[in-house]
Amino acid sequence: MALVEIRNLTKSFSKGEEKITPLRDADLDIHEGDFVSLMGPSGTGKSTLLNLISGIDKPDQGTVTVDGVEVTTLSRSKLADWRAANLGYIFQTHNLIPVLTAYENIELPVLLLPLTAAERRRRVEIALEAVGLTDRADHYPRQMSGGQEQRVGIARAIVAHPKVVVADEPTGSLDNKTSDQIQVLLQRLNSELNITLVMVTHDREAAEIASRQLLLDDGQILEQSSNGAKAASHKAVAVAGGK
Ligand SMILES: Nc1ncnc2c1ncn2[C@@H]1O[C@H](COP(=O)(O)OP(=O)(O)OP(=O)(O)O)[C@@H](O)[C@H]1O
Ligand SMILES: [Mg+2]
Repeated sequence: MALVEIRNLTKSFSKGEEKITPLRDADLDIHEGDFVSLMGPSGTGKSTLLNLISGIDKPDQGTVTVDGVEVTTLSRSKLADWRAANLGYIFQTHNLIPVLTAYENIELPVLLLPLTAAERRRRVEIALEAVGLTDRADHYPRQMSGGQEQRVGIARAIVAHPKVVVADEPTGSLDNKTSDQIQVLLQRLNSELNITLVMVTHDREAAEIASRQLLLDDGQILEQSSNGAKAASHKAVAVAGGK
């Protein structure tokens, strides 16, 4: 069984008279340890897909199952607990709380978990170390560069040891050099800590660091060949099977 199983997922929105359907009967399997990138023109539904995987949004039809739990049917209160323990979210702009230090920002998600203070501290220290910011623990967001702030955002996303981390254009507002550094970090977290990552990006170079490249096209999730040729796309579930 895949870690994330998306089946027949359909989501539409009404825009005045118009109805748009960013996902139409979409299927996808993501396996533990996968690093998946997701591309597609603006407005095709990439963020919508991440919101469905993380249970922020509900589909019209279809299911998202993460490690055997059908996220799409969890109640609101169950969902909050499930998300705190199982899902990390990296934003384009880091969304750090300005009055909290790096340490305190990273600690926030684990405050929701039933951990001892010692275990909580251990998790935060591991996350700080993983993103190379141990020496910045007591700094406030305003005292850090954009790249360092994004590192804090990444540490916050991994601190609870979630099953899946989703990232919505994590390098979208960084300069090229910083973007490269964040890409290297994400790749390292995937390969060294076996963190399962789903990353939306508009940057083909960033997409290519992932082990699997997906394209969202006309409501469908397509697996890209390694050279990115659309002609060689398959429905993402077919080629992902059997691992
Ligand atoms: N809550 C909502 N209500 C109405 N329409 C929405 C809502 N969320 C998304 N949409 C619409 O659904 C479509 C897909 O949006 P989404 O944000 O998923 O696209 P995207 O691929 O992430 O785009 P971008 O690359 O610009 O971030 C868009 O047309 C958007 O306007
Ligand atoms: Mg988006």
